Amino acid sequence: MLRDPDSDVMEKAYARWAPVYDVLCGPVFLNGRRAAAQAARAVGGRILEIGVGTGLSFDDYDQTTEITGIDISEPMIARARIRAASGRYPHVKGLTVMDAHDLKFGDASFDCVVGQFVITLVENPERVLSECARVVKPGGQIILVNHLYSEKGFAAAVERLLAQKARGLGLRPEFPFQRLAAWAERHGGAELIERRKVKPFGVYTLVRFRRALAQPQAA
Ligand SMILES: C[S@@+](CC[C@H](N)C(=O)[O-])C[C@H]1O[C@@H](n2cnc3c(N)ncnc32)[C@H](O)[C@@H]1O
Repeated sequence: MLRDPDSDVMEKAYARWAPVYDVLCGPVFLNGRRAAAQAARAVGGRILEIGVGTGLSFDDYDQTTEITGIDISEPMIARARIRAASGRYPHVKGLTVMDAHDLKFGDASFDCVVGQFVITLVENPERVLSECARVVKPGGQIILVNHLYSEKGFAAAVERLLAQKARGLGLRPEFPFQRLAAWAERHGGAELIERRKVKPFGVYTLVRFRRALAQPQAA
């Protein structure tokens, strides 16, 4: 298994992706984005999207929600801001360049944190998850959607083969679900409440954690 990606590699990769992201990646991630946003709408209220990118998800939310988006990439956020300036998304309240490892929000600021195709790309996924848990209200949810490592068979072999090259492109095909589950167990303040393949193809996995009502012992 390769080590986790460096943040500066990701920043450089997404500066390159920004001008073409919507056309090339928009349709590819559509089902996953919609599934995550639908789950987040069921929670409602104040939603933080980490790694919001160009704001492709704005269409998937409505006025029952209030969206704050952060992303480490200035060029990606710049595109999200242009999208928000269209006036079509009054539910989008803030878009900021910020590293998900170090969220500049107070504890329990959001009803829900959503990460669409981002947790596998960060330098320290466990730290990002702990930050998400910190800013979510007790009883709130962390909702992730991603392609996760297939772990066995032909698909897993291809993912291992592609892993090294994919890193420079800002992609990561070999991230195992087990890491997410292990984080929740260690953290103690977030319970895994759902893990399911997103229809129709099952390429992406939706994972939901619920923030415990009591404070965790250790992050
Ligand atoms: C594959 S894109 C997904 C964008 C968007 N969520 C979507 O589904 O279209 C991954 C995004 O995560 C962002 N990202 C990577 N590392 C990050 C970090 N440490 N903090 C915040 N955003 C990060 C990238 O800049 C990029 O915009």
